Amino acid sequence: MRLLKSRESQPVTRPTAEATTDLRGLPAFTQAPWQMSYGERTVLEGLLAMISPRLAIEIGRAEGGSLRRIAAHSEAVLSFDIVDPPADIAALPNVTALTGDSHVMLPAELQRIADAGGNVDFVLVDGDHSAEGARKDMVDLLSSGALQTSVIVAHDTLNEEVRQGLCEVDYDAFDVGWVDLDFVPGYVARTPERLGECWGGLGLVVVDRSGSFRGGGANTGSQLISQASLVWPVAKLVREIGDPALPGIEQAVATRGDEVTPLREDLTRARSALDAVQSSASWRLTEPLRALKRRVTSR
Ligand SMILES: C[S@@+](CC[C@H](N)C(=O)[O-])C[C@H]1O[C@@H](n2cnc3c(N)ncnc32)[C@H](O)[C@@H]1O
Repeated sequence: MRLLKSRESQPVTRPTAEATTDLRGLPAFTQAPWQMSYGERTVLEGLLAMISPRLAIEIGRAEGGSLRRIAAHSEAVLSFDIVDPPADIAALPNVTALTGDSHVMLPAELQRIADAGGNVDFVLVDGDHSAEGARKDMVDLLSSGALQTSVIVAHDTLNEEVRQGLCEVDYDAFDVGWVDLDFVPGYVARTPERLGECWGGLGLVVVDRSGSFRGGGANTGSQLISQASLVWPVAKLVREIGDPALPGIEQAVATRGDEVTPLREDLTRARSALDAVQSSASWRLTEPLRALKRRVTSR
């Protein structure tokens, strides 16, 4: 890691006229597929610019959105995914795109790096989103000798599964410098097909075996109320009752009302017709016959 050069030694470069007029040309606002919010992209970009990793790892590359930026800031990147990389990613000269299960490949690659005396400066964990998958990726990283001075960023820390897995990790046992699973907040989806689902969010884990990075201990719950514990109950309510602020939902409720009203009217008409029959003289006169039939049937 070519660490955090001081501000004096690294003057701010003014954006060119072209860059300021073409916002889509800025890395965080690119239209290339990248499964992160603008806030997450911007923070990732900032971290990478500060760290300038010699060796970085990404678990979960998909279409290569985050990988393109990690590669732009790193000397070498190891990338894992269970699906093959797109052609333009496979062609990046400083990226080794491995295809396979991170739970099998990552420990072996970390061992290889540790045996060679290397250090992984930066890791993005964005692969298996099951609780056990996220937990295992994090534990494999933290228990490796290849992470001595390293920044680990985990994506989708507001998601229930991912968060559960990351919270199951005993960070203190690995003597990490800092853990903040709400480093960048996530979001609650509002589209009808994902209404109330919790996604996004970046978690930060700083590993510094020298012990010099001590921001006050693991920040997984002791000092701050987790964003997840505040957001999840409301998100659950939104999943159950819908989001009343959404015009689409209001319309759906109104439409449902339109469907229900004629059915209610039909039911009322049927009930009063039945009442009329049951209170008629002929119904009362034929009651002994129905009673006899009930007795015969019950025998
Ligand atoms: C959310 S996407 C990654 C998005 C990407 N980092 C970005 O920001 O554009 C998650 C990826 O993880 C991959 N994945 C899921 N389970 C995995 C596993 N066990 N090992 C490696 N990759 C896995 C999926 O194939 C998928 O491409």
